[in-house]
Amino acid sequence: GTEEREAAFYAIIDADGRIEPRDDMPEAYRRTLVRQIAQHAHSEIIGMQPEGNWISRAPSLRRKAILLAKVQDEAGHGLYLYAAAETLGVSRDQLLELLHARKQKYSSIFNYPTLTWADVGAIGWLVDGAAITNQVPLTRCSYGPYARAMVRICKEESFHQRQGFEALLTLTRGTPAQKAMAQDALDRWWYPSLAMFGPPDTGEQASGGHTEQSMRWGIKRFTNDELRQRFVDMTVPQSQVLGLTIPDPDLRWNEERGHYDFTPPDYDELFRVIKGDGPCNAQRLAHRVAAHEDGAWVREAAAAYAAKKQEVAA
Ligand code: 3HC
Repeated sequence: GTEEREAAFYAIIDADGRIEPRDDMPEAYRRTLVRQIAQHAHSEIIGMQPEGNWISRAPSLRRKAILLAKVQDEAGHGLYLYAAAETLGVSRDQLLELLHARKQKYSSIFNYPTLTWADVGAIGWLVDGAAITNQVPLTRCSYGPYARAMVRICKEESFHQRQGFEALLTLTRGTPAQKAMAQDALDRWWYPSLAMFGPPDTGEQASGGHTEQSMRWGIKRFTNDELRQRFVDMTVPQSQVLGLTIPDPDLRWNEERGHYDFTPPDYDELFRVIKGDGPCNAQRLAHRVAAHEDGAWVREAAAAYAAKKQEVAA
C-alpha cells in the first residue's frame, strides 16, 4: 500500500540514497522537482539572451570565441535539465508552453539589462559564481537524474566563472575608463546576484517558501541564506584582487561569526521581478516566444525526417 511505498521512499532519503525515475515517490516530491528542474532549465535558456547580446560586439576575436562557447554551454545545460525533467513524466513542449504562458518562471537575474561589455564579465564572475555556489550542493540532490546533470554543469560553470573574472581583471588593469566600467557593472549586478539565492530564511518575506520541505526530501542541502553567505564570503576577496569596491558600506568581516556581515538584497524588488515586472521580463519572454516560433519549421522538418527514416527502416 501507500504506507509501504512512502516508507521505502523515506528509507532511501534517510540513507542519503538516490531516487531514480522508476522508484515510487510522493506526488508532491515529483511536482517540486518538476517545478525546480524546469525553472532551472528555463533559466539556462533565457540566460543566453543577456550575453548573446554581446557576441557580435565583443572587443576581440578571443573574447567573442569565449562568449560563444559559454552561451552554447548554457543551451546544453538547458538540454540536460529538460532531459532530467522529462524523466518525471513531463514533456519539453509542455514545459516551454508553461514558460511562455508565464506559468513557470526562470531566474530573476536574467531580467536585468547588459548595458556595457563589463556586464558580460560581471555576469560570468557574479552570476555564474552564484550559480556554482547553488549548484554544487545540487550534485548531491536526492533525485538521481538532476544530481547527475549537475555534475557536468558544474564543471562547465567553473570555466564560465573564471572567464568572467579574467575579463574584469583585464578591464581593471586597463585605462581609468575601463576600470570605471567594471566598477559600474559591479554596482549594478551585486544585489541582483545576492537575490538569485531566493527569499530570506526568516521573517514574513520567507513565507510560502519551500526550503523546509525541500531539505526534508534531500533536494535542498542548504538554506537560501546559507548559500548567499557562502557566496559573499567567496566573492569579497575576489573583488579585492580586482581592486573593485562592493557597493555595500556595511560590508565587513565579522571575526566571531567567521563570515562577512553584509546588507541583504531588496526582497521586495526580487518579488516584483519574480512576478514579472523587472526591467527586461517582457523583452526576454517576447524574444523567447519569437525564437520558439521561428524555430518551429526546424523541429517539424527534423520530426518528419526522423519519421521517414523509421518508415524506411521498418
Ligand atoms: N528567481 C525566480 N524565482 C525564484 C527565485 C529567483 N532567484 N528564488 C526563488 N524563486 C521562487 C521559487 O521558485 C518559489 O516559487 P513558487 O513558490 O512559485 O514555487 C518561490 O520563489 C519561493 O522561493 P523558495 O526559495 O522557497 O523556492 P525553492 O526552494 O525552489 O528555492 C532556488 C529557490 C534556490 C532558486 C531553487 O529553486 C534552486 O536551487 N533552483 C535551482 C537553481 C536555479 O534555478 N538556478 C538558476 C540560476 S541561473 C543559472 O543557473 C544559469 C547559470 O548558468 C548562470
